[in-house]
Amino acid sequence: MTQAEDHEGTRRDFLYYATAGAGVVATGAAVWPLVNQMNPSADVRALSTIRVDVSGVELGTQLTVQYLGKPVFIRRRTEAEIEDARGVEMSQLVDPIARNPNIADGADATDANRALDDTGEWLVMMGVCTHLGCVPLGNAGEYTAGGVGGWFCPCHGSHYDTAGRIRQGPAPQNLPVPVAEFVDESTILLG
Ligand code: FES
Repeated sequence: MTQAEDHEGTRRDFLYYATAGAGVVATGAAVWPLVNQMNPSADVRALSTIRVDVSGVELGTQLTVQYLGKPVFIRRRTEAEIEDARGVEMSQLVDPIARNPNIADGADATDANRALDDTGEWLVMMGVCTHLGCVPLGNAGEYTAGGVGGWFCPCHGSHYDTAGRIRQGPAPQNLPVPVAEFVDESTILLG
C-alpha cells in the first residue's frame, strides 16, 4: 500500500466513524424527548388511578384506601342502609347536589345518584369532612339505619347519612364521590 492509499483509507475510516457517531447522537436525541415525555405521564397515570380489590368486603363494612394522599371509603351497604338513604326527601338535605363526577354536573343528591352501582350496594366517597378536612368515623352517624351506617365527624360534630350526605353540623357539602367504576365484578378503578 502506498502512502497516499494508506492516507485515503484512514480518511475513509474517519468519515465512517464520524458519520456513525453522528447517527448515534441523532438517535439519542430523537429518543430522549420521547422518553422524557413518557415518564411524567406514566408517573401521573400510576398516581392518578388505582385498582382496588373489593372481593373481601363484607356487607355492612367499609374498606378505606389511600388515593392521591387522601382516604377513600368504599362501603358495601346493607339493604337497611340503602333503604334508609332512599327514604330521604330532597327537602331534608342540606346540600342537594350529588357531588358525583361520574354523573351529570349538578345532579340531585338522590341516593341512586351517589351510589356506584345500580343496586346501591356500593358507595365510594372521599373520607374527608367538607368542613375542615377531618376523617369522619364510619358506623357512627346519627342518620343511620337501625344504628348502623352513616358517618360522624367528631371534630365539630358533622353528621352524614348512609349516602354520605351532610345532614347536621357545620360541614357545608356532601362527602364528594371520586371518579370510580367497576372494571370487573370485584375490582373498582379509582381515577
Ligand atoms: S372537620 Fe368535620 S366537622 Fe369540622
